[in-house]
Amino acid sequence: MKTPTTNFYNNFSLLYPLVDLFLKPQKKRLFDEVNNLPEGKLLEIGVGNGAHLPQYKKHSVVAIDTSGAMLSLAKKNNLINAELLEMSGESLEFNDQVFDYIVLSHVLAVVDNGEHLLEEVHRVLKPKGKVFILNHFTPNNWLSLIDRGFEPIARLFRFKSVFYIRNFAAIKRFTLHKEINLALGSYFKLLIYRKND
Ligand SMILES: C[S@@+](CC[C@H](N)C(=O)[O-])C[C@H]1O[C@@H](n2cnc3c(N)ncnc32)[C@H](O)[C@@H]1O
Repeated sequence: MKTPTTNFYNNFSLLYPLVDLFLKPQKKRLFDEVNNLPEGKLLEIGVGNGAHLPQYKKHSVVAIDTSGAMLSLAKKNNLINAELLEMSGESLEFNDQVFDYIVLSHVLAVVDNGEHLLEEVHRVLKPKGKVFILNHFTPNNWLSLIDRGFEPIARLFRFKSVFYIRNFAAIKRFTLHKEINLALGSYFKLLIYRKND
């Protein structure tokens, strides 16, 4: 059954390159970090149109998304022969402990149940595996009022504008390894976590 989020991205896929223009500089830093790691098996959850797929330089990449329309575009951008699958990050069809790295780029504030997603990420990551979370993060100051004011519009666009990583119980199963501030002060960040056990 298709969820409202899947339907939204099926309808929005052709306009997504406009969003991607804005996200491109942030992703450069993500790929610098990812490509610096020893070769391994990498899962990207919510790959979208996959315009960034050619930026993966050395890993063996599996990329999933729930939107068939987004995946069709990703197939055209798949110059690296990534394995592309229609699958939800909230119920992954992979065995336990098979991936070295997992990338969540602007996905954790989009999925219906981020808690389930992080539990699944923990399950399929190898011990000491790394997860890369690129996202906006609501600041702990008056600027949070902007995210709160934006909530009704964000709901229409199927994402959570008020977004605190600490609200996920499952994040405690990982240790923060690196925090990199990106655009707009510290509003956009790349958080790199390591699986605890
Ligand atoms: C904001 S886009 C981000 C796309 C890409 N990661 C990027 O950074 O450009 C969010 C993507 O997550 C996908 N998505 C939403 N819920 C999902 C889920 N439960 N499992 C996998 N992908 C999901 C959407 O279809 C959409 O393609």
